[in-house]
Amino acid sequence: MHRKWQGQCEACGAWNALIEEAPLTSGPKPATSRGRAVALSSLDSDEPPPPRARSGLAELDRVLGGGLVPASAILVGGDPGIGKSTLLLQATAAFGGAGLNCLYVSGEEAAAQVRLRAQRLGLARAPVKLAAETALRDILTTLDAERPDLVVIDSIQTMWLDSVESAPGSVAQLRAVAHELVSFAKRRGVAVVLVGHVTKEGQIAGPRVVEHMVDCVLYFEGERGHQFRILRAVKNRFGPADEIGVFEMTGAGLAEVANPSALFLSERGKPAPGSVVFAGIEGTRPMLTEIQALVAPSALAMPRRTVVGLDSGRLSTVLAVLEARCGIGFAGQDVFLNVAGGLRVQEPAADLAVAAALISAREDVALPPDMVVFGEISLSGALRPVSQRENRLKEAGKLGFTTAMLPAGGRAGRTGGAEPAVTLREQADLAGFVEAILGAPGAG
Ligand SMILES: Nc1ncnc2c1ncn2[C@@H]1O[C@H](COP(=O)(O)OP(=O)(O)OP(=O)(O)O)[C@@H](O)[C@H]1O
Ligand SMILES: [Mg+2]
Repeated sequence: MHRKWQGQCEACGAWNALIEEAPLTSGPKPATSRGRAVALSSLDSDEPPPPRARSGLAELDRVLGGGLVPASAILVGGDPGIGKSTLLLQATAAFGGAGLNCLYVSGEEAAAQVRLRAQRLGLARAPVKLAAETALRDILTTLDAERPDLVVIDSIQTMWLDSVESAPGSVAQLRAVAHELVSFAKRRGVAVVLVGHVTKEGQIAGPRVVEHMVDCVLYFEGERGHQFRILRAVKNRFGPADEIGVFEMTGAGLAEVANPSALFLSERGKPAPGSVVFAGIEGTRPMLTEIQALVAPSALAMPRRTVVGLDSGRLSTVLAVLEARCGIGFAGQDVFLNVAGGLRVQEPAADLAVAAALISAREDVALPPDMVVFGEISLSGALRPVSQRENRLKEAGKLGFTTAMLPAGGRAGRTGGAEPAVTLREQADLAGFVEAILGAPGAG
């Protein structure tokens, strides 16, 4: 709380994010009426689940949990310039093609600019109605008359309500605009997509207040300099979270990537020390990615620990366990860790692949190129089996990998079927694993 006007928030550093609230002068107001009893109902009902609309873009439909739910509110966040407008223009065109009445409201670009993009994407004839407007009051009136099935608001930061005094993009405006749009969605049965300039780390405090108001929060992520874009559901009231859709940014817009493993591994060069293929799961889908490590002598008193695409806390844990349980120290060494292709890996199952990459880099030994690694490392140095082992192995087999290093135990069962079988090399603890990859006697 601040007693007087203040321009900058002390907590997050954002300017003009603080909102003035009038103090209560004489305590809470006394109740003037007793209120009425609310009708109660049971959980049991014969109502069919809401019909979902599919766009035909499989990557998008999966992230939405199987299609667009009517009357839902969706927030799509992402860094500036990552391709949000492109994605949503393609999505509205696809939903329009599937028979939905779609409206695209751009507050950032003039109609001509959006039309130009549509032409570039080959969507000039798509059944999408377009408006360039920032006054929310006018937009709501238009929506009331138009009754669309889907409306995209690009972006929420540009919209403003005349009833709120602060500038567009301020927290007060964001909250009011989002509230109006979300309640409109519920009242009229319209699916509303809000675009927000948000980064996952939430540097801009404002749009985060919108997250709890909406049904579904999607992040559109990607590394600059990489053409891959990932749409990730971080919250979904109508489907699984953590589901991802993979796209590739091309001159003609976003192209779906049906087989991301092949794409993420396609950049892999010849076997090099520090490179390991991790058999991961993203949402419901197995995905192979390359984890790269570099270990080099450090000139710094506090050696560097640089991580891209993985949690730096996990790296510290793996380094500590390697040191404490296997006597492999990294003191005086800079450690760099990277997931190739710009993907973010969040599973603990990546621990073992991280350890393998670190050891391989430190000892300057290249691992066999046809091997995948996965498993969780516990603080005691034991290896823990992870979920969906068969799916991971199946994907590895499909892509031509012949060996897998993984924790012992877990659900037994042979891989195989249509895919070539993968030879399993199971280890109970990290010390055994280290011996096995360094080719000490008793390996395998
Ligand atoms: N003529 C073009 N050819 C190929 N790619 C292009 C072209 N114009 C734009 N792009 C790609 O589209 C991206 C911008 O996409 P888009 O405008 O959809 O992003 P955005 O997230 O909506 O950005 P903003 O934050 O400005 O709203 C660019 O970074 C670029 O990669
Ligand atoms: Mg945009």
